[in-house]
Parts: sequence; structure tokens; C-alpha cells
Amino acid sequence: MNIFIYFSLLILEVLILFAICVYGIGLLFSALKEAPYVPTSRKKLQEILDVIKPKNNCLFFELGSGDGRLLRYVVTKYGVRGVGIEVNPLLVWLSRTLAKRSKLKNITFLRQNIFSTDLSEANYIYIFLMPELIVKLLPKFKDELKKGTVIISHGFKIVSWEKKLWKTLPASTFSTYYYKI
Ligand SMILES: C[S@@+](CC[C@H](N)C(=O)[O-])C[C@H]1O[C@@H](n2cnc3c(N)ncnc32)[C@H](O)[C@@H]1O
Repeated sequence: MNIFIYFSLLILEVLILFAICVYGIGLLFSALKEAPYVPTSRKKLQEILDVIKPKNNCLFFELGSGDGRLLRYVVTKYGVRGVGIEVNPLLVWLSRTLAKRSKLKNITFLRQNIFSTDLSEANYIYIFLMPELIVKLLPKFKDELKKGTVIISHGFKIVSWEKKLWKTLPASTFSTYYYKI
């Protein structure tokens, strides 16, 4: 094997190991914060967002934005202003890097706890969070959300919000629930 191929393979291996470490540390961080990182399936993004077809220039929040895939998609496809809130610094870094690579404007990722985020201007809120966390968010939703705000909860129903539920997108793994204030 010539020396060039040898070093190329070596660099590739180091990069793959680095990516695995970054991802692993990210998972560990989220798990330690009682906030497991499980991304929304890329195959489902279009279907989930087509139900609401968010309007151009609306303010779209994702609470616990993970690697930012949904927010990048919704900003690109529907022209909304996107704000992602994520507690895990590695995921925030990854989201910002990918958004920059795609030259996206109107998208912001904040390293922040969702409980410290002002939601009063939100038109849409997307969550894929554990049910216990959703329950803790409800008083904040009640205090801050304006009339007409749409909440999309992927994976878990918002208990006690049956009257606000207007659509369910069933799925074999994670269904999606749509609520309106
Ligand atoms: C199940 S993942 C979903 C990720 C992304 N929303 C998606 O659908 O691909 C939940 C995310 O919420 C984040 N998270 C959990 N609790 C949080 C909190 N209190 N503040 C900010 N982010 C939080 C986790 O770090 C994790 O990335």
C-alpha cells in the first residue's frame, strides 16, 4: 500500500472515531440531564409538517432541537423564522454548523434550558420530549402562549389537553399530536 493511501485511511479512521466520540458524549450528556436524545426520523419530517403547512415568516420554536434537522427543514421549505432551544452544547454546535453549511438565514440555535425561553411570540412549537417533561412545561405554556399558537407533540400526547387536540398523525412507532391554543 502506498504511503498516501495509508495516511488517508488513517485520517479517515481518526475522523470516524472523533465523530463517534462526539455523538457518544452528546448522548451521555443528554441522558445525564434526564433528556435522552432521539431524533425525529428524517423520513417523517415532510409528513409531520405538511399537516400544518406553516406560513411564511411565522415564528417556529423547537424545544429540545437535537441536531436541528426539523428546524432546518421547516425554515428551508416553508420560509418560517426558526428558533431551536437545546440544552446539549454539542448538539447546538452541530445544529449551527449544519445551518451555516446550508447558508440558512432566519434560523437560531440557543444553548438554553427550555424553561428559560420566552414563548410569548411563538406561532408554532414543536416538541419531542418525555411525558414527564411535557407535564412540567404545561404551566409555562398556559402563562405564555398566545391564542392561535399551534403545538406539535411528536411521540407523546399532552395529557389533560384533550380539548385542544385537533389532529393526530398515527404511526407505528411515534405518532404526532397537534394542539391549538
Ligand atoms: C427526543 S430528543 C428530540 C430532538 C429533536 N427535537 C428531534 O425531534 O429530532 C429531545 C431533545 O431535547 C433536549 N432537551 C431535553 N430537555 C431539555 C431542556 N430542559 N432544555 C433544552 N433541551 C432539552 C435533549 O437534549 C434532546 O436533544
